[in-house]
Amino acid sequence: MWLSSAVFTIFVVTPVVFAINFPYESIQLKDSDVGNNSDIAFGKLPVHASPRCKSYPGYESWPSTDRWGAFNVSLGGALLRGIPPAAACYEGEYKDAAACAVVRRRQGDALFAKEDPLIPFGQWQLDNPCPVPSFNVTPPLLECNLTAFPNYVVNASSVKDIQLAVNFARNNNIRLTIKNTGHDWIGRNTGGGALQVWVHRLKAFEYLPSFQVGKYKGQAARVGIALEQHEVYKNMAKANITLLAPGSPTVGAYAGFMQGGGFSYVTSRYGLMADQVLALEVITADGKFVHADPEENADLFWALRGGGPSNFGITTSAIVKAYPPTTISRSDFYIQTGPIFDNSTTSIRVSNETFWKAVNVYFSHNLRIQDAKGIMWNFINTQGPSPWSPERTFTLQSQITKPGITADGMKELMAPLIKDMNDAGIALPNPEPHFWETYADFGTIPGGPTGATSSGRFGSRLIPRSNFEDPKSKAFLKTIASIRSFVEEGGYNFHSVDYAPTIETAGYPGSNSAVSQYMRNTVMHMTGYDNTQYTPDLTDEEWKSSHARLNSYVNKWRDASPGSGAYMNEADTEEPNFQDSFYGDHYDRLLQIKNQRDPWRVFYAVTGVASDEWKVEGTRGLPTQQGRLCKVDA
Ligand SMILES: Cc1cc2nc3c(=O)[nH]c(=O)nc-3n(C[C@H](O)[C@H](O)[C@H](O)COP(=O)(O)OP(=O)(O)OC[C@H]3O[C@@H](n4cnc5c(N)ncnc54)[C@H](O)[C@@H]3O)c2cc1C
Ligand SMILES: *[C@@H]1O[C@H](CO)[C@@H](O)[C@H](O)[C@H]1NC(C)=O
Ligand SMILES: *[C@@H]1O[C@H](CO)[C@@H](O)[C@H](O)[C@H]1NC(C)=O
Ligand SMILES: *[C@@H]1O[C@H](CO)[C@@H](O)[C@H](O)[C@H]1NC(C)=O
Ligand SMILES: *[C@@H]1O[C@H](CO)[C@@H](O)[C@H](O)[C@H]1NC(C)=O
Ligand SMILES: *[C@@H]1O[C@H](CO)[C@@H](O)[C@H](O)[C@H]1NC(C)=O
Ligand SMILES: *[C@@H]1O[C@H](CO)[C@@H](O)[C@H](O)[C@H]1NC(C)=O
Ligand SMILES: *[C@@H]1O[C@H](CO)[C@@H](O)[C@H](O)[C@H]1NC(C)=O
Repeated sequence: MWLSSAVFTIFVVTPVVFAINFPYESIQLKDSDVGNNSDIAFGKLPVHASPRCKSYPGYESWPSTDRWGAFNVSLGGALLRGIPPAAACYEGEYKDAAACAVVRRRQGDALFAKEDPLIPFGQWQLDNPCPVPSFNVTPPLLECNLTAFPNYVVNASSVKDIQLAVNFARNNNIRLTIKNTGHDWIGRNTGGGALQVWVHRLKAFEYLPSFQVGKYKGQAARVGIALEQHEVYKNMAKANITLLAPGSPTVGAYAGFMQGGGFSYVTSRYGLMADQVLALEVITADGKFVHADPEENADLFWALRGGGPSNFGITTSAIVKAYPPTTISRSDFYIQTGPIFDNSTTSIRVSNETFWKAVNVYFSHNLRIQDAKGIMWNFINTQGPSPWSPERTFTLQSQITKPGITADGMKELMAPLIKDMNDAGIALPNPEPHFWETYADFGTIPGGPTGATSSGRFGSRLIPRSNFEDPKSKAFLKTIASIRSFVEEGGYNFHSVDYAPTIETAGYPGSNSAVSQYMRNTVMHMTGYDNTQYTPDLTDEEWKSSHARLNSYVNKWRDASPGSGAYMNEADTEEPNFQDSFYGDHYDRLLQIKNQRDPWRVFYAVTGVASDEWKVEGTRGLPTQQGRLCKVDA
């Protein structure tokens, strides 16, 4: 349907740009490199009608091994075959007992998965096609299905490598996927039979004491697109500044995290990661390398900040806002209905009835904490019955964090909450806060990387500010009731991070970006986890019924927040009406930019802008990413 639009006859003129942040960006694809090689030629308009499906290994349209070989030569040998490490555990040409032992030992290790070009964090998205056999099992358990993975990977070390990949994929109608750390929850970083661009090595940093663009003048930093949270903390310590950073050590700070919004422990004070960005370097769908900022390629600059990853281009670096160093403090406590075994944190045991009263009191302080620029982070979990606890029990774990505050100030911030708890019969003392001299120090909290691979699924919801304005209101009580029902009846674990990335906090240029109005108005990002692991041994029916049950409880959150949406980076791929829920009022403009910038549809990601034009063939149960990508209506 998009091919019929007249929009594609307009040529988008992009000026030649010399705004290069790092040396890897000065290595670019030149017309003289392309010559008459049509495999790697830049994209030209108009766009011709393309086949119904993307090319896929085994089909006639798939390039020959010789053509892939020639492509590898143009890449200087940076092309890898798409062989997942667990292939070493299966009969066949990749069998390797020593390599298999390594995979078995490290399968649960985020540091292993993020260093591999093929292992996505979320395993169910490919239907876990090459499971790592456990220690007590002699392989082969199931077949290691290589077809389900990206078929080739460009191990990119320059802009040129990425330009070549974009051009080769576009010219040969091949699905293109992009992997940075691989931490995407929902499969936007992988796809069967794809050419994968691995941007993970584009790491660099430079502090800029003064930088000016548009109406911004101040401190900033140039950042390589692949920097992870722990690397951001290290660099900010060295430069004696504050930069926004993701919540987990191995999440990438500036790629998928930023393009989907990106919230942090300091978001109520400094905004989202999308709000930090002052300029971007991008490879667009035609293979060109362009600069985007509030004044140049402003459409791309707008769309790339909050308009969803893997949609409009491949970014290689950014310039982000920097702030003076700040103190930060955090107050932790537990309230639980079961016995307390550990007195190292502030924990208090209460009855079931009092527990839910505590939850109510707790969230009635949401707006007060947010208006003070703090955030609330919590889990409401259910356990047992188990041998240690013959009854089912509940736990509320809370961390309240605020930058720019002393430990004493934190205790004062907590005091009204503690008083209300005490008045409700919960003898919680005001916890001794943790305190860090700088936000960079906060980043060195011991515990190491979290987040191995996962076959779990979840649902999510953004709850608007209006639900919290009056703790006696129907909206507030309905919100709390929906959380209670999720945990008590549903038997699921609940997690929320309560932050407020308002338009005012976003400032310039953040307030003018693709971040949805639902994000701007929220004070609570709810997530809830399915108890089922979506592994290959489950039947289609089991996948569907487990998901339907989870969804029926997430629907109660939706009912409690009509007219809101969800945070696209931590959401269900089956989110109803994702176009509105993830993008809000911006979807139409984003689709227009998509049509202008990517009329070839080089970029596809599940739940991405215009992704509803496509479906993945041959997936079972619920949509997954391993099959051939085809247009919905031929
Ligand atoms: C353990 C864990 C903790 C998390 N904590 C937080 C948190 O605190 N706050 C929060 O907001 N979110 C959090 N998330 C969610 C996070 O925002 C997403 O997982 C995000 O997609 C990660 O981006 P990435 O670049 O690291 O991962 P990847 O999976 O490598 O990439 C994510 C998406 O970005 C695309 N992409 C990658 N590089 C580029 C590029 N250069 N140009 C264009 N597209 C690109 C990929 O194709 C994919 O669609 C967390 C996730 C996990 C697993
Ligand atoms: C492509 O260019 C080379 C020289 O650079 C030439 O030898 C060759 O014949 C050309 N091929 C085509 C199809 O034009
Ligand atoms: C690409 O070339 C390099 C060396 O030139 C080689 O090591 C590598 O295996 C090749 N990749 C593929 C997919 O053949
Ligand atoms: C990717 O390329 C770099 C630099 O050439 C190399 O050190 C690294 O081993 C490559 N990664 C893989 C998985 O081949
Ligand atoms: C860090 O910066 C702050 C203010 O921006 C300054 O007061 C402090 O002295 C600096 N510390 C170091 C070690 O440079
Ligand atoms: C609990 O507190 C006591 C007394 O302060 C201490 O001796 C003990 O080690 C603590 N136990 C745990 C598990 O932290
Ligand atoms: C608390 O509630 C759970 C679930 O509703 C129930 O199983 C448990 O028995 C209750 N505990 C007590 C002490 O009543
Ligand atoms: C491997 O995965 C592909 C993509 O889903 C599928 O078409 C194919 O049937 C699978 N092969 C086997 C043997 O399961």
